[in-house]
Amino acid sequence: MNASKKVAAVTGANRGLGFETCRQLARLGIQVVFTSRDPSKGQAAAGKLHEEGLPVVYHPLDVTRFESIEHLAQFVRC
Ligand SMILES: NC(=O)c1ccc[n+]([C@@H]2O[C@H](COP(=O)([O-])OP(=O)(O)OC[C@H]3O[C@@H](n4cnc5c(N)ncnc54)[C@H](OP(=O)(O)O)[C@@H]3O)[C@@H](O)[C@H]2O)c1
Repeated sequence: MNASKKVAAVTGANRGLGFETCRQLARLGIQVVFTSRDPSKGQAAAGKLHEEGLPVVYHPLDVTRFESIEHLAQFVRC
């Protein structure tokens, strides 16, 4: 993670408002952590933004599971 950039972690990013939020934040130069509860859906959707030249990074997140939130927090801190 680039420590000099603002970082935004977006939940439910594989579709809908989450997906478009990732696109808009990445276009502003913010480091976007693109998350979804289903890794295959999330990585496929993040790939669409990579094709647009937007450097989002993917990490799984299920907001109903505490350990999943902890894993994401550790990832963002690194
Ligand atoms: N669209 C609107 O006009 C509008 C207006 C006002 C408010 N909202 C609210 O804004 C939110 C998003 O709307 P949307 O239209 O983008 O909804 P959506 O297309 O149904 O997308 C919802 C997203 O949340 C994810 N999600 C569900 N449970 C999750 C969990 N436990 N952990 C992580 N991610 C989870 C879904 O993942 P899966 O694909 O795995 O299910 C999906 O990516 C909703 O709460 C909606 O009620 C929407």
